[in-house]
Amino acid sequence: MFDSEIERKAVSPAPSKRVCVIGLGFAGLPTATAIAAAGHRTTGLDIDAAKVASINAGHATSGIPAAAITTLIDDGSLIATTDAAAIARAEVILISVPTPIDSEGRPNEVPVERACETVLEHVSDGALIVMQCTVVPGSTRRLLVDPLNAAGRKVGEDIFVAFSPERINPGDAVFNVSNTTKLVAGATDACLERGREFVASFVSTAMPVASLETAELAKLVENTFRFINISFVNELAVLCDRFGVNAWDVIRAAETKPFAFMAHFPGPGIGGDCIPVSPRYLQAAAERKGLVSDVIAASFRATGRMAGHVSDRLAALLAERGRVMTGARVIVVGLAYKPDIADTRHSPAVAVIRELESRGAEVVVHDPLATGIIVNGVLRPSMPLDRVWPAGAVGADAAVVITPHSSIDYSALAGRVGVVLDTRNALGWVGSDRIVSL
Ligand SMILES: NC(=O)c1ccc[n+]([C@@H]2O[C@H](COP(=O)([O-])OP(=O)(O)OC[C@H]3O[C@@H](n4cnc5c(N)ncnc54)[C@H](O)[C@@H]3O)[C@@H](O)[C@H]2O)c1
Repeated sequence: MFDSEIERKAVSPAPSKRVCVIGLGFAGLPTATAIAAAGHRTTGLDIDAAKVASINAGHATSGIPAAAITTLIDDGSLIATTDAAAIARAEVILISVPTPIDSEGRPNEVPVERACETVLEHVSDGALIVMQCTVVPGSTRRLLVDPLNAAGRKVGEDIFVAFSPERINPGDAVFNVSNTTKLVAGATDACLERGREFVASFVSTAMPVASLETAELAKLVENTFRFINISFVNELAVLCDRFGVNAWDVIRAAETKPFAFMAHFPGPGIGGDCIPVSPRYLQAAAERKGLVSDVIAASFRATGRMAGHVSDRLAALLAERGRVMTGARVIVVGLAYKPDIADTRHSPAVAVIRELESRGAEVVVHDPLATGIIVNGVLRPSMPLDRVWPAGAVGADAAVVITPHSSIDYSALAGRVGVVLDTRNALGWVGSDRIVSL
């Protein structure tokens, strides 16, 4: 199926368009490079001048390797700029700016509102605007369709608006922008047709969806489904501990049912910029419609207890070895939110470090990819594992593995510390009796 799609594109390539991708981050830059690689003349627009300079110099940026960027910059298919005038020249504008949460866990819609204002100010008639951000449902209509119509620029005739969410999975060796099905919805039938045609020019399958709000909700549902299921097994892990059984054994057993079960596995929390953020956007959507999302709220409570559970387990393991948490020397290993990437955004390591320190432990951190992690506003630099405490693991009472990067020498780690608490049940292959699962 995928091979035939590639062949189809090779024999009938879509006509090249002038495309402006706004926001060159972890989602926007891979999208911009995929669009440029598909033959469109692509300009990346970002307010971060240092990032723009880095891309134009061909340096690795936002998870894209230098070689991939250099090839596209050198052949003229990709250029980065801070000049919003690029919007006026573009036939297609794709918006991929951050949609974070604030300190209260509420959607911070300021960046996407600002970006839409800039687009509305510069966009030329005839252009297609594609919203790619993960937004509160209704936002594409509120921020683009309604203001354009109100300004007398008829959407679906003078100008076209689509929503097409990103499904990037950082660190995934199989799925990338080009080979992952991408949803696309339009404000009108003409908008959908133009959006579908453009998206199909750089991904294997562009999947049409009934309405803007359907596609906006679908994106939130994908991530919230994962959040709720992981939260459920996180709660299960605490129960399994009370029964003295391994939660992963329970889930693997349940997984042998050949229908209607999908395995999710516990951990020390849920990190990243998407999975713990999207449920907040869905909660906000429910609130705006006068509803309460009980299941999401309960899931946040269940997952919010995991740092405490990790600390309880470590305290028990220390007690078995005649130690107490107060004054225990603990190295927290793996700071990124998932294995084999360097991204520490919303990493569960932060809550675990805070919890361990609140119980009197002395904590240092190690990650072979991330340079460190910010806890309570202070950067904790990654320490080497082969040095003596406090600069490393040698002589530490315990290690807590938050994220099991494949490049860590776990047998050496187990040889250097009293006990290793493996919060992902990922290190059984090491075969050390000093490594204990959550
Ligand atoms: N990171 C992921 O894996 C991922 C996956 C799927 C969806 N998404 C969604 O994609 C969107 C972007 O996320 P991200 O992770 O790429 O964010 P990011 O923080 O990595 O990058 C966003 C970029 O946008 C730039 N920016 C902010 N405001 C701007 C403006 N007004 N004009 C131009 N540039 C501006 C920033 O400088 C930054 O470079 C979000 O809605 C996110 O939820 C992200």
